[in-house]
Amino acid sequence: MARQTPTPGHQRLFGRRKGHELTPRRQALIDDMLPAIRPMISEDGVVDLQGPVAGQDRLWLEVGFGGGEHLAWQAAHHPDVTILGAEPFINGVASLLAHAQDQQLSNIRVLDNDVRPLLDALPDGSLERIMVLFPDPWPKARHNRRRIINTLTVERFVALLADGGELRLATDIMDYARWMMTAVWPHPDLVWTARRPGDWQTRPDDWPGTRYETKAGKAGRTPVFLTFKRRDR
Ligand SMILES: C[S@@+](CC[C@H](N)C(=O)[O-])C[C@H]1O[C@@H](n2cnc3c(N)ncnc32)[C@H](O)[C@@H]1O
Repeated sequence: MARQTPTPGHQRLFGRRKGHELTPRRQALIDDMLPAIRPMISEDGVVDLQGPVAGQDRLWLEVGFGGGEHLAWQAAHHPDVTILGAEPFINGVASLLAHAQDQQLSNIRVLDNDVRPLLDALPDGSLERIMVLFPDPWPKARHNRRRIINTLTVERFVALLADGGELRLATDIMDYARWMMTAVWPHPDLVWTARRPGDWQTRPDDWPGTRYETKAGKAGRTPVFLTFKRRDR
């Protein structure tokens, strides 16, 4: 396995930002709804979540939410939590906003861009849960360094998590599963919650399937679901 020297911060970790033309409804959501719920990061790196105060309200983060089905489900089932999502693919962002409008969700904040500046700007200890579900696998060895999970991001996740907070990861690519375990398992402040194989082979009940997971299943790939808890400081 390639060494996990992460890609420098300025390099892109994701593919295209725009797919097919948005419908008028979705374009209107991007134009009108997004600005009101987009976290603002000032030049000196302070984040304004336009509403909840990090560290006082319960805050979760989903990195690379794709079409947003999982994020919308979590927001609908946890109205007392603000769920922050970052996704650079604008069609995915529009899809999440459509779910939010249909389900009248007011407890989401959406960054339509690379999550990394947000990871830097959020205060330490401010997140109760971080979810990275089926991140881009970058399967070629020369591209492994672009993987969003690496020793550096894991270190940042650990700092961002509140005591007892949870890191949830999923992948259907076994090489990436091993890579994730190499990055996360040795960390002294994270404890893998699995006790038996069923715990990581089966998706927990409070974790709905994602669009990408469905695609992986159709292609005959079996995902893993990894949950880690942050030790108390
Ligand atoms: C394979 S897709 C999975 C999407 C979704 N989580 C699912 O399971 O259906 C990975 C997603 O991560 C997003 N992504 C990649 N790099 C990212 C980054 N640096 N910040 C935020 N999102 C990123 C991509 O745009 C893509 O939508």
